[in-house]
Amino acid sequence: MSDLYCVFGNPIAHSKSPAIHAAFAAASGQDLIYEARLAAVDGFQQAISGFIAAGGKGANVTVPFKEEAFRLATRLSERAARAGAVNTLAFNGSDIFGDNTDGAGLVRDMTHNLGFSLAGKRILLLGAGGASRGVIAPLLAEKPVSLFIANRSADKAVALAASFADIATVNAGNFAKTKGNSFDLVINATSASLSGESLPLPPGIFAPGSLAYDMMYGKGETPFLALAREQGAGVRADGLGMLVEQAAEAFFIWRGVRPDTVPVLAELRAKLAP
Ligand code: ATR
Repeated sequence: MSDLYCVFGNPIAHSKSPAIHAAFAAASGQDLIYEARLAAVDGFQQAISGFIAAGGKGANVTVPFKEEAFRLATRLSERAARAGAVNTLAFNGSDIFGDNTDGAGLVRDMTHNLGFSLAGKRILLLGAGGASRGVIAPLLAEKPVSLFIANRSADKAVALAASFADIATVNAGNFAKTKGNSFDLVINATSASLSGESLPLPPGIFAPGSLAYDMMYGKGETPFLALAREQGAGVRADGLGMLVEQAAEAFFIWRGVRPDTVPVLAELRAKLAP
């Protein structure tokens, strides 16, 4: 019988994870089934228990359950503990291992797929919610020269920066506080694109040759990437590569095999082409 995996979320119908993991499994000769499962907003724990009882070996977790998955895990990776959120669960008897592959996926997309090294770079991270928290430690591990967290509400950015003070000095404030500075990498980890809103970023934040990276993706250009183009960011990328790379990292945790992400990303990209 094939090993069973799934992704839990709400909503989940449009998840690309089943197609991504099916492609990984086919290319690496792994015998597994990967499904998308809707969990009720107040029914995540029950959904997980039912999945384990049915023989599920592991699960991905997406909005809005990442923090609940963090609390449910009986054991956490260091990066998941830092992120305060779990996107990958592995089940073994009564052991529920929680990991977070989002930051590793982001870093791998930048360094491998885009050929952009983070060492010595000035990074601006926009947003101070869960998406932002999840990637900070992996970004700092790449040894940038500085990291600034900017958020609509400055207090949240300042608190988030302070919680990583044991790793590095992280600066923080509202968007206006970035005025007069320029950055080699600007990452959008806000959910502003979801509502089609653009961010009030001061001019001049994109250094020549800088990378603008939006964790969001979709058909066409996101509002953040449109702004980055207008303001002269040298390279612009959406979050499709991060999606595929975080999946590859989860696949590795479960199967011990690192799948080739290049053809899978190319196929997804072709499907998203306008
Ligand atoms: P996620 O888990 O996706 O990070 P979240 O925890 O709700 O979701 O955080 C959303 C982030 O997007 C926050 O940083 C939020 O800013 P505030 O902390 O000031 O609320 C940011 N955000 C959402 N909509 C935004 C908008 N229209 N303009 C600027 N920032 C926005």
